[in-house]
Amino acid sequence: MTEPSTQNNGAPVASDEHSQSVGADGSIALTDHYLIEKLAQFNRERVPERVVHAKGGGAFGTFRTTGDVSAYTRAALFQPGVETEMLARFSSVAGEQGSPDTWRDPRGFSLKFYTTEGNYDLVGNNTPVFFVKDGIKFPDFIRSQKRLPGSHLRDNTMQWDFWTLSPESAHQVTWLMGDRGIPASWRHMNGYGSHTYQWINAEGERFWVKYHFHTDLGHKTLTQDEADQIAGQDADFHIRDLYAAIERQEFPTWTLKVQIMPYDDAKTYRFNPFDLTKVWPHSDYPEIEVGTMELNRNPGNYFAEIEQAAFEPSNFVPGIDGSPDKMLQARIFSYADAHRYRVGTNYQQLPVNRPHTEVHSYSKEGAMRYEYNPPEVPVYAPNSVGGPAAEPQRAGHGGWQSDGELVRSAATLHPEDDDWGQAGTLVREVMSAEQRDRLVETITGHVGGVTRADVRDRAVQYWKNVDAEIGSRVEAGLPPLEGSTAPGEQLSEPNPDGDLVGRDVAGR
Ligand code: HEM
Repeated sequence: MTEPSTQNNGAPVASDEHSQSVGADGSIALTDHYLIEKLAQFNRERVPERVVHAKGGGAFGTFRTTGDVSAYTRAALFQPGVETEMLARFSSVAGEQGSPDTWRDPRGFSLKFYTTEGNYDLVGNNTPVFFVKDGIKFPDFIRSQKRLPGSHLRDNTMQWDFWTLSPESAHQVTWLMGDRGIPASWRHMNGYGSHTYQWINAEGERFWVKYHFHTDLGHKTLTQDEADQIAGQDADFHIRDLYAAIERQEFPTWTLKVQIMPYDDAKTYRFNPFDLTKVWPHSDYPEIEVGTMELNRNPGNYFAEIEQAAFEPSNFVPGIDGSPDKMLQARIFSYADAHRYRVGTNYQQLPVNRPHTEVHSYSKEGAMRYEYNPPEVPVYAPNSVGGPAAEPQRAGHGGWQSDGELVRSAATLHPEDDDWGQAGTLVREVMSAEQRDRLVETITGHVGGVTRADVRDRAVQYWKNVDAEIGSRVEAGLPPLEGSTAPGEQLSEPNPDGDLVGRDVAGR
């Protein structure tokens, strides 16, 4: 039998079709509380979209530890044979919530493990590196990829202006412009923790670790033409693919492998191991198998379980900790701050974010708080009335040695820390000749949309620095630049007739 509909207070509804009015054609009444409730609730259905990674989808699943990495970490979820419930969310970075899934962009690869020792979040991407290496540059980088303030259009000139003035971006931009810049589906892409993290074993020994989730379905990517066509036909192509596969009981799986670096190697390694624009070649630190992640349950409600999911790189559990990576440290602040703004102070109480363990926290009150301690539990610590007490031994965080002046510097003692080397290796040693051809085509198309001659010249030099041959081919392939805007005309805004005109910041 159909359930009777109710108002939010549980009382029966008189009509879902007719509002109350003074006569059939008269004004509606302010006293129609149910009409007001419906309209007001509707106006408040959205929370702000994520400032980055707004478009995404996800699913629940299980992580099974099949290997034995207990020599490196005492984290409960990575002990042999342990199974842990988890949530994954995949996303594109720059586009807004309605943007096409197949735009060229890195993809987010966010994982939340509901472990027996609290939630562990690994918030990575489908690439092992990133565009910048200091969190202070992140907001500028993201703004350069999003929209111009006047026209609200995305802008190649702005993107290449930022990239070419930030040579540390070369490795990630090479990756992005290559085939892997457009995955065929979320099921067919790898995921990376990207940062270097710290593992601590039962004896308190520390190791540096990088995570790699390899798709068991094999890597598949789209060409630019395929992606463009799909973008026009089905903006939700990747959400649909994952959802449909899980409905068909075709559960995608990934194998987690890690690279482990002994703690003391970090000081003398040829690359700065905490620089997010660098990988550790597998010949230096081979991969060790840890376990398998399977996604096997679609969300029951997208808003409650995916839109309100709050991933945070600060969610560590005993046996896992951060590292000197400056990007990671900025992120350890940033995400919880974003959630408090976007979802609300008590976002961790929502079912999707709540740990599957008991929480004995001294946090209290705030908007929409509905969990509270019994009155006999004190509201302060330390206390002498038996309130929850810290367990430093069990928390077991690692830490690391550091000393020095308080400075603003990226100085490094590692011999191979230039910005171009690993990007060049990716082009010459990882890509095939066909992949290099497509790389040149993609770069040429993208830089072809730059409207300022000086930015174009810098882009050509950028690619020559990555690889002389790629740079020369890009230079030769670029169409002539007509009507270049001048360097002072920083913000190129299309005018209403569609021609590009320069405007300075003051809009002159
Ligand atoms: C989302 C900040 C770097 C991966 C976000 C969000 C913020 C943020 C504020 C939105 C969170 C939300 O509203 O739920 C930053 C800052 C960074 C940084 C300040 C640099 C200092 C990175 C890096 C990666 C990454 C290096 C990957 C290696 C992600 C992912 C999401 C995200 C996957 C989406 C999370 C989800 O699925 O809900 N980031 N980010 N971010 N970021 Fe970052």
